[in-house]
Amino acid sequence: MIHRPQVNGLPETAPSRQNLPRFVKNLTLELDFNRTVPTLHTQTAPQLTMDLDAIHGLIAEDMAAVNEMIHERLRSNVSLINQLAFYIVNSGGKRMRPLLVLLCARALGYKGRDHISLSTIIEFIHTATLLHDDVVDASELRRGQETANAVWGNEASVLVGDFLYSRAFEMMVEVGNPRVMEIMAHTTNTIAEGEVMQLLNSRDADTTEEKYLEVIRCKTAKLFEAAARLGAVISRASPAVEQAMAHYGAHIGSAFQLIDDVLDYSASAEQMGKNLGDDLAEGRPTLPLIHAMRVGTPEQAALIRQAIEDGGRDNIEAVLEAIESTDALSYTARAAQREAARATRSLATVPPGPYRDALHALVEFSIKRDY
Ligand code: IPE
Ligand code: IPE
Ligand code: MG
Ligand code: MG
Repeated sequence: MIHRPQVNGLPETAPSRQNLPRFVKNLTLELDFNRTVPTLHTQTAPQLTMDLDAIHGLIAEDMAAVNEMIHERLRSNVSLINQLAFYIVNSGGKRMRPLLVLLCARALGYKGRDHISLSTIIEFIHTATLLHDDVVDASELRRGQETANAVWGNEASVLVGDFLYSRAFEMMVEVGNPRVMEIMAHTTNTIAEGEVMQLLNSRDADTTEEKYLEVIRCKTAKLFEAAARLGAVISRASPAVEQAMAHYGAHIGSAFQLIDDVLDYSASAEQMGKNLGDDLAEGRPTLPLIHAMRVGTPEQAALIRQAIEDGGRDNIEAVLEAIESTDALSYTARAAQREAARATRSLATVPPGPYRDALHALVEFSIKRDY
């Protein structure tokens, strides 16, 4: 169902990061998250050797070409597709996965143009998963503005997500490299499996850390892995280097999702551009909750178990207290640091230089980020 009349492809009331929807303000007013936020992010106020802007700066020309291609290839004769797809791609986004493709290709000496198409393809797939994910998670805020499902409804979001998926596959056929198709077919299949596994774990307080890690490897790390691997494949890297890049991508991806799950309990909506507590609202047993149940008092474990089984935000204050007193966010951040260290080690096979430095910096950003 289409909820709002559209003007120039954007909803009349599209909020910006500065003008967050009212429900966000209510949430932050009702709950004093600062009180329960562990020191993790305040202490590590990102002292990055190279911040995300600097990384983008290194590859700015390529990224401009990617953004141009994104806009070109979004087009459809169906106006709702244009409206909704432009709404989400113009809302920002860190472009992490295109960065991986571009930097890996450049670090390995690639001189052609396929890295632009592949970055676009990967960002389309990422965007499709976000459209679907926000429907499944009933999320209302992304990138500091209302989610597409909040503006246009679930049906439109799912269908435009399908459009982006299939447009990505059309573009892959144009690239005409069977290895690329093989990698992307397998990757998208694995992402879908990850999202379904996550659905099965929802409201299941007995979900183990191993099961959780398997979900994040599939739903998130696999696309990072594909991005880095493709950079190596088009550069005609040796099998050993391709494997090292794939490991790099997989581990930075797992680190990235672990921190996403930390931020879901610790960042403000203004920082993240997403509503905090979304995971709890859906009864998602992410690592902070799994750990807090494991080491907390029997009362804390019972409280979290109930919150997972019930879903909703009713008990979020008490859950945050349990998370804090069990140091569950630090535990999760340490798991992210271990993944990050593995990603960094995989870069040993890459020739030294500014692109390799940027790949290192991207690992650092992934674990120190607050958005
Ligand atoms: C969000 O990814 C989904 C996760 C895998 C956590 P990003 O944090 O990369 O989203 P954008 O593209 O920057 O908004
Ligand atoms: C990432 O998980 C989902 C995808 C891989 C699409 P989340 O559900 O945690 O992502 P956010 O927090 O909504 O961005
Ligand atoms: Mg989500
Ligand atoms: Mg999340």
